[in-house]
Amino acid sequence: MDKEAGKKAAALRAVEFVDNGMTLGLGTGSTAEYFINAIGNKVRSGWEIKGVATSEATAAQARGVGVDLILPDETTEIDLAVDGTDEADPQLNLIKGGGGALLREKIVARAAKKFIVIADKSKRVTSIGAFPLPVEIDPYCWALTISGIRETFRDAGFGDAEIQMRAFQGNFTRSDGGHYIADCKLLKIEDPATLDAALKSIPGVIETGLFCAMADTIIYGDENGVSVESK
Ligand code: A5P
Repeated sequence: MDKEAGKKAAALRAVEFVDNGMTLGLGTGSTAEYFINAIGNKVRSGWEIKGVATSEATAAQARGVGVDLILPDETTEIDLAVDGTDEADPQLNLIKGGGGALLREKIVARAAKKFIVIADKSKRVTSIGAFPLPVEIDPYCWALTISGIRETFRDAGFGDAEIQMRAFQGNFTRSDGGHYIADCKLLKIEDPATLDAALKSIPGVIETGLFCAMADTIIYGDENGVSVESK
């Protein structure tokens, strides 16, 4: 499968859900990049679009293509958020955060009136979990938080799951918010909502990459076009 063609096809279909004047949540990653470029084309043709960026990388790209970025206040309405995913199941549960932007992505997706996920078809799985689950944690006493995460995995029946602190050139990677990310190999997550709640009850866990029942629609693309799945 031509993944790039699939990402682009999905992104361009998502643009059909955008109207002039909307405030958009702008996702992070290579699939979202196609969407943001297409929105830049709309702006150049005269559309007025405001964007809420889910990462510094997305903010830089959006500015580069001429999209006005805003920092929301409590009255801001995000009409539509569009973002990629690392995995998605038929119930529209997702694993996100491969690019490290899970916290900001989740804040924006939850606040949006509508959340559309765009992906090449290889991201569709029967059960999520083969992609290592990113868990964003506070750097303070991070090893204690990891030990709490291990315990939670054991209690949830995952045994001694492999947990890897995300790192680059010997240093722990930090998210845009300054947190660490632990990538957790679980293989198959049968009850993502329960696991999400259990992980978030551990002090030190900021957010998980489990996006349960948040997506309204997922658009999958391949070189032959798109298929759309909705709640
Ligand atoms: C960023 O943190 C992620 O949630 C991305 O949305 C996800 O990794 C998908 O990225 P690609 O579109 O690059 O596959």
